[in-house]
Amino acid sequence: MPSQDRDETPEDSRVVIVLDGPAGAGKSSVAREISRRMGLPFLDTGAIYRAITLVMQRAGIEAEDSPQLRDALRDFYISFRDGGIFVGDEDVSEAIRTPEIDAAVSRYSALPAVRSELLGIQRAQADAGLVAEGRDMGTVVFPDADLKIFLTASPESRARRRYDERAARGESVDYGEILASVNRRDEIDSNRDAAPLRQASDAILLDSTGVPFEEVVDRILKLASGI
Ligand code: DC
Repeated sequence: MPSQDRDETPEDSRVVIVLDGPAGAGKSSVAREISRRMGLPFLDTGAIYRAITLVMQRAGIEAEDSPQLRDALRDFYISFRDGGIFVGDEDVSEAIRTPEIDAAVSRYSALPAVRSELLGIQRAQADAGLVAEGRDMGTVVFPDADLKIFLTASPESRARRRYDERAARGESVDYGEILASVNRRDEIDSNRDAAPLRQASDAILLDSTGVPFEEVVDRILKLASGI
């Protein structure tokens, strides 16, 4: 997680850029590159939802509000360090990117108890400004962000991106299954009551279908230069 000291940057000079959009639109790699080019911390909020899902699944806690779920939320400690994502002392960077977590994460993310617990964790990262990506950055977590992008792409190109990522890691993957999983996740993320995936009214819509990565990054940097 960004590790700048609290109040190091005056509040009015903190730049907050957010990217929201459906699974596989390329938000992570684009946001990471924008943060690198602008010298701002990067926050992958999907990783936080994935990590809490991993914790719950390991503990056998169902995706429904319960005393056990609330206890686990209270004990949840996540940090981003050494290029990895840690829960307590364990590097979970790989464990949170499996098909099992893909299949379960939307159910845990739909729970208001989970969302409200993770809200504070996310906002606490913005002390020095940041580039954050997720589903509700522009609508709920950082409604006053300086720049809001809603990055989308066709379901096929999003599934293809996930397919390529997995294949590059040497996993055996099935394109049809990935497409179905991406569509299922978008359906749940878009239709939940708590902070659904939605374009903020003041967000700029970018469709990355067929647009090279560098061009998407350049367009956003150009928009950011006008902040
Ligand atoms: O971006 P991702 O695929 O790693 O996100 C995993 C899941 O986490 C996604 O399906 C929904 C949830 N999520 C969310 O509800 N709100 C966010 N801000 C980020 C992710």
